[in-house]
Amino acid sequence: MNLGIETTTQGEEKDTKGALILGDQKNPATPAIFSHFTNEFYASLLSESSNSLPPSAIRSLMHHRDRPGLISFLAGDPAPSTFPITSLSFTLRSPTDPSTETPITIKGEDLETSLKYTASRGINSLIDWLYGIQEHSHGRKRGEGWRISIGAGCQDLIYKAFSTLLNPGDSVLIEAPVYTGVIPILQWTKADSIEVETDGNGISASHLKSILDKWPAEKPLPKLLFTVPYGCNPTGATASLQRRLEVLALARKYNFLILEDDPYFYLYYGPEPRPASYFHLEAADGRGVGLVLRLDSLSKVLSSGLRIGFASGPEALLDALDKHTSSSNLQPASVSQVIAHSVLSHWGIDGLLTHTATISLFYKSKRDMIEVAMKKHLSGLAVWNSPVSGMFIWMKLLLPPAPSSIDGDGDSNHLIQTKALERGVLALPGSAFFPNGRMTAYVRVAFSVLTEEQADVGMRRLAEVVREERDAAGVATP
Ligand SMILES: Cc1ncc(COP(=O)(O)O)c(C=O)c1O
Repeated sequence: MNLGIETTTQGEEKDTKGALILGDQKNPATPAIFSHFTNEFYASLLSESSNSLPPSAIRSLMHHRDRPGLISFLAGDPAPSTFPITSLSFTLRSPTDPSTETPITIKGEDLETSLKYTASRGINSLIDWLYGIQEHSHGRKRGEGWRISIGAGCQDLIYKAFSTLLNPGDSVLIEAPVYTGVIPILQWTKADSIEVETDGNGISASHLKSILDKWPAEKPLPKLLFTVPYGCNPTGATASLQRRLEVLALARKYNFLILEDDPYFYLYYGPEPRPASYFHLEAADGRGVGLVLRLDSLSKVLSSGLRIGFASGPEALLDALDKHTSSSNLQPASVSQVIAHSVLSHWGIDGLLTHTATISLFYKSKRDMIEVAMKKHLSGLAVWNSPVSGMFIWMKLLLPPAPSSIDGDGDSNHLIQTKALERGVLALPGSAFFPNGRMTAYVRVAFSVLTEEQADVGMRRLAEVVREERDAAGVATP
């Protein structure tokens, strides 16, 4: 599978299968914004399950129902008039003035939409709104070789993206440590996970490069890279712009997809301007788009209970992903989508951005609060990087070396599950974030809902058990 770009004598760019990169042909300076990848390229990436899933007989015809004057005998829809819910009402806090609440009532056509079966890819009104925010946040315009599908949160979309793409034995690049929610999916798909190192600046592009440069000639290249670029769960790291550009260049060289799982994008609170998303970057240099599948979530900004996430990416991939939706849960919940749309359309893009700016500051203050407690109790007993987005700190406990350790690090797993728990403190041991459950001295600290007192007492308790371990092993504590 080699669809690298070559340049013709006329200066046009072509992929090696001959597909022209679309752009403004009259003005070569205009960046190319359309996908230069052919449907054949995407078809070559699809899993056997995607290829064998037929389109749903009913759902593939449903969009015709919007045609004016059409009489539909198509689906066995329950009659909305028989549903007992006659309106949905809630109050909405103003993003600019938290003391003001506006009553919102959903009725009429919107109520009907919220109560009935709707399209597998999501309801049009919400999708239309989401195109606007993607253009605002990532500079990607509707109609330029990509589209949106809604899912029941990012988790649902990760599951479906992996099902859409991976066959048993396929190679998939993952950050290490990786979001623990993908580990069962990787095990279920029987994909071969290739771990890419990370540090305080996110994914290591140089490690990724060395993996790919040494890739065995006889082995098919990885189909995709899974990465959480802002406030990564569990490391808290936000990938630097430089790293992102290097990763993107490698994706273009080796033709793998970047699955950008980005639920913490709107929780950025760093001092510098935020680095651009992969979704933005692939369109920014005019070299053509089509390798980024971006996942957003409303879980961290509106409500995790709504279960709404959305995928933005190449149509061919989302068409295949939608087949997995129509054969599993049929569609994301209509009622959640209508509620989300009514909130978002009431606020507008400015209102949403005001709200996300406020909640970013909330998480920044929580980060500052937990770091005060960490510095007070764990100096000399643990090390960590300060996150600039999200709600996690990846903390290395300076434990005595575990007996089987090859790098001299301790094992957080045993300590967290026994002595720390007995002392009344709970955290997720770092081993939960490696597919092979490998031993590690790291612990993930989630700080999003803690009070100052809980942060202080929890860190004191953790420090006590770490100190005891060190004392028992005869390791002096500064
Ligand atoms: C990195 C990452 N991806 C996906 C999810 C799932 O998010 P959602 O609620 O949108 O399914 C989470 C939730 O914590 C997460 O941290």
